[in-house]
Amino acid sequence: MRITILCENTVGRRIGLGEHGFSAYIETDQGNYLFDTGRGHSIVKNSLELNKDLKTIKKIFLSHGHYDHTGGLPEVLKLVGKVDVHAHSHVFLDRIHVIKENGKETKRYVGLPYKQKYLESLGANFIFNKDFVEIEKGVFLTGEVPRKTSFEKPDSTLFSEIDGKTNQDIFSDDQSLILDTEKGLILILGCAHSGMINIINHVIHKTREEKFFAILGGTHLDFLTPEQLEESIKVLKKMNIEKIGVCHCTGMRAAFRLQQEFGDQFFYGHVGSTLEI
Ligand SMILES: [Fe+2]
Ligand SMILES: [Fe+2]
Repeated sequence: MRITILCENTVGRRIGLGEHGFSAYIETDQGNYLFDTGRGHSIVKNSLELNKDLKTIKKIFLSHGHYDHTGGLPEVLKLVGKVDVHAHSHVFLDRIHVIKENGKETKRYVGLPYKQKYLESLGANFIFNKDFVEIEKGVFLTGEVPRKTSFEKPDSTLFSEIDGKTNQDIFSDDQSLILDTEKGLILILGCAHSGMINIINHVIHKTREEKFFAILGGTHLDFLTPEQLEESIKVLKKMNIEKIGVCHCTGMRAAFRLQQEFGDQFFYGHVGSTLEI
């Protein structure tokens, strides 16, 4: 099994293009999968440079409806054609980021930039799930993640619109991918809007497995309070995790803190970085 980061904010080798977004290409004995698509500028270019054929993708998984995880869908669909796209139905909610700077408020649309019908016309066959589900042997999606920790709070700058009403975004659609391997679980996060620790605890509860070979993807830790970062690190250190390869919305400060704590177990998941079993 090999997991390659296709889209990420940074480029660590001489190949590829960085963008604010995330996507991982997963090669297994059962076939190849795509987790998220980045925002759309880099996925095709990076897949060609990294020699990852998007046409072979068997299934697409979407972590949540933010544009930086879903914006590449049309580019991918134009190459793949008919393909199952697994997501929570709230992936299509309208989403807004409110930024307050120098007493001024700016609103930006950050939801999935395309309508379901358009994506279906390009070949997407949406399969919605709410609950923890085994998609194929050893490949699971978390479904909705219960919010249990006291220190993991939602990002107060993110909003969603349901039935014309704008509320703080609770990200019911936030889900992560789990690959069950002989070395332990591999957990791939999108933005971890449910809280990284809530997600890990949910995975342990559902799989009854506590050994994580790797945790990859966005953790959103740098966008939240320093207390949340420190509390999360405290809990992570008690867990059975062999490798932490976070990136994207983890942010540099939080990534540096994780590197300090986890040493050689830590790696940064830039464009082109791979994890092999
Ligand atoms: Fe993100
Ligand atoms: Fe996000």
